[in-house]
Amino acid sequence: MRIAVVQGDGIGKEVIPAALEVLDALSLPIEKVPVELGYDKWKKTGYAITEDDLDILKECDCILFGAITTPPDPAYKSVLLTIRKELDLYANIRPIKPIDGIMGITERNDFNFVIVRENTEGMYSGIEEIHEDVAYTKRVVTRKGSERIAEYACKLAKKRQKRLEIVHKSNVLKSDKLFLDICRHTADIHNVEYHDTLVDTMAYNLIAHPNRYDVIVTTNLFGDILSDLAAVLVGGLGLVPSANIGKKHAFFEPVHGSAPDIAGKGIANPIAAILSMKMMLEWYQLTDLARLVQDAIEYTINQNLVTPDLGGKATTNEVGEAIAARVKQLIG
Ligand code: NAI
Ligand code: MG
Repeated sequence: MRIAVVQGDGIGKEVIPAALEVLDALSLPIEKVPVELGYDKWKKTGYAITEDDLDILKECDCILFGAITTPPDPAYKSVLLTIRKELDLYANIRPIKPIDGIMGITERNDFNFVIVRENTEGMYSGIEEIHEDVAYTKRVVTRKGSERIAEYACKLAKKRQKRLEIVHKSNVLKSDKLFLDICRHTADIHNVEYHDTLVDTMAYNLIAHPNRYDVIVTTNLFGDILSDLAAVLVGGLGLVPSANIGKKHAFFEPVHGSAPDIAGKGIANPIAAILSMKMMLEWYQLTDLARLVQDAIEYTINQNLVTPDLGGKATTNEVGEAIAARVKQLIG
């Protein structure tokens, strides 16, 4: 097992060491390859990511990633978009389910769904024109891109409750009409029950009726926004993991960003990063170990060893250490 480890910027440098501590507690034969990427690197070297970095990322089995700061500077090209495109990580998977011991602000725990977000095109096509008085971003939806994300979502739905929700804005956006038609057709082929909802209605339904959903498939920007919104159900951004999956590569990262407002204080919640590492274990088909990590997280939360975002006093390190210690205990 050879894993590229990218801490990135801000709290990425705090939550990834905590996730690695838990990974180390599993005593797996893993080679960890540190790769420095991001805004801090850009400030030092003028590059946020180089061709050599991309080669290293491609040579590893997969990538465990913290977060990267994207400054609003047109000269700075988003590292994440570069990686997603270069490694063709077309499916962004964001599971939203309650964590034992934590109540989100809606105070309900009767939901369990996965957002499957198209990750390479849509509003994040990177095709832009900036002039003095007008700027354009081209929204790209292709048959190939829509078919493969719909396939992914249908296969996932078949392993779960076999229900697909297609989220779009086809009443206004012609590009989403293509997306919707392809998703419907793919669901028919796979014999998966489906329904579709406009994205604005979905923003409401996700909070008002989260128990309606199983697998939600949508385009890039809508998936990005809805998954941060869904974090409210779980108890915050510090708890939501994600995987970016392609045909050849995989990349695991918390949904949250580099959180400059709390960076350096040692109070970032490492659970989203640890759960992202858990998704990596599942990708390696180490399902029992993944379950064990989940148990250790829940045990630690129930000991009230949590960071301030969950109302506790523990530091990032303390939470990481406690979860790692519990993992060692469970392994025996
Ligand atoms: P953010 O996700 O970094 O933070 C939003 C809010 O949630 C902040 O108040 C932050 O303190 C809190 N938060 C986030 N993660 C937390 C954690 N683990 N524990 C406790 N509290 C947590 O989003 P924001 O502030 O909009 O973006 C900051 C930077 O991160 C920007 O430069 C943005 O471009 C970048 N970003 C990077 C992402 C990535 O690398 N995948 C994803 C999202 C944003
Ligand atoms: Mg986001």
